[in-house]
Amino acid sequence: MTLEFPEKRFAQWGKEYGDMIFLKMFNTPVLVINSAHAARDLLDKRSVIYSDRPYSVMMTDLLGWEHDFGLLPYNEEFRKHRRWMHMPFFSRSCLAAFADMQTREVIALLMGFLNDPEGFGAHFKRYSASFMFRYLYGHTVISPDDENLHVIEKAVEGTMNCSAPGTVPVDFIPSLRYLPTWLPGVGFKQKAVWVRTAVRDAAQRTYNLAESKLTKDNIETPVISSLIKEFTSKGTLETEKPEIMMFGLTLYAAGTDTTHTVLMAFLLAMIMYPDVCVKAQEEMASVVGSARLPTVNDRDALPYLECILKETYRFSCPAPLGVPHALREDDEYRGCWIPKGTMIIPNLWFMLHDADAYPDPEAFCPDRFNGLYENQEDPRNIVFGFGRRICPGRRFAEIGIWQAMANIVATFDLGKARDAMGNEITPSGTFSSGLINHPHQFECTIRPRSQQAIELITDANMKW
Ligand code: HEM
Repeated sequence: MTLEFPEKRFAQWGKEYGDMIFLKMFNTPVLVINSAHAARDLLDKRSVIYSDRPYSVMMTDLLGWEHDFGLLPYNEEFRKHRRWMHMPFFSRSCLAAFADMQTREVIALLMGFLNDPEGFGAHFKRYSASFMFRYLYGHTVISPDDENLHVIEKAVEGTMNCSAPGTVPVDFIPSLRYLPTWLPGVGFKQKAVWVRTAVRDAAQRTYNLAESKLTKDNIETPVISSLIKEFTSKGTLETEKPEIMMFGLTLYAAGTDTTHTVLMAFLLAMIMYPDVCVKAQEEMASVVGSARLPTVNDRDALPYLECILKETYRFSCPAPLGVPHALREDDEYRGCWIPKGTMIIPNLWFMLHDADAYPDPEAFCPDRFNGLYENQEDPRNIVFGFGRRICPGRRFAEIGIWQAMANIVATFDLGKARDAMGNEITPSGTFSSGLINHPHQFECTIRPRSQQAIELITDANMKW
């Protein structure tokens, strides 16, 4: 077992043992699933018993994410939170309103690229954070120095740094939490104390933000403020408040980093594969022209960009091992017994990098979805997980990602940076290991495509 890129180790084991690998981590039975076929058989078709989450002492007891519905077992509280998501994250009218709101965020992103192209990573970060902030709390993040942004990021980053699933000993040996902090290997307890405080601060502060936007500025968003309104009118707000607070934080934590990493991977691919970028620009020019910016209404007419979106999901696979499920009852599959309580880890990364399913998997090749190869399954059926725990933010995420990609392709030329001698610097194209994959740092050039593109962006910025 390895803590660095466990998905690759699982893939290697897969070659030896097949698409289902059973192991024990300390005393916990673990089933790694290496194929979409087996994942569907179990997590989709038998979702009644495969939809719990393994209990995490670290996340729940030590870091204070007890109402995080991404961690809850498949119980009544979990179902309530999924219901809270339904309207804002699935209804067509809410998503259409979001796409509209999103346009302003996209313009701010393009302005960032125009004024400070080297800061592309920070602009993507602000963009991913801001559209979550606006939708959840009604607050606009204008600069990366926003105080609310810092508070919430401190909590989320602190959590991510000490909680990647499968890598936290206290989750497998719960009694470790009772050992004194001065013992070697128990330093996690000290860290957990400050992260817990950061999580509480962030939950309280963001809730207050939504409440004050609602009561003072009369800004009602489809998520937190509408829950505050609903439970105020029912007279149960005080009871629901701890859950509403964590609901907001959960969505922020689940949605921001994943979106950010997809956008970074898209830019990286455009730098490394300039022909793909040129082809997308040609399609954009022939459909949208150069006199306006693209909108979501153009999406159906831009099939090549759609292939790029799919390939970006496949290439980056932001959550390589998804989020583990847990089995509620003993089960049997292909003649093998799977005990109750088994942690199920779907190796999403391998499902999307298996050369039998996706030929030449390390290459970024949107044409694989354009007829180059046969039977290329849409990565969106895999990258968001499976069954009753499938990502509920997937439609919402896609709107933000598509809008950013389309507008960047329409207005900027993207290329490799050059060193002091004038030689092109080719990015490594590699990703870091972790709960969420991030492309390793890279440099690039981002230049407006024309004077007309600059005017389109600045005019749109004036209007908003
Ligand atoms: C490209 C962006 C995203 C990717 C790749 C992604 C991927 C995933 C994956 C793999 C899971 C685990 C599914 C499973 O257990 O089988 C998940 C769960 C989840 N995602 Fe996303 N996600 C993205 C964006 C978002 C956004 C924008 C939101 C919020 C608006 C969100 C909210 C959640 C929540 C709340 C869960 C937990 C669901 C549960 O436990 O039932 N995600 N996501």
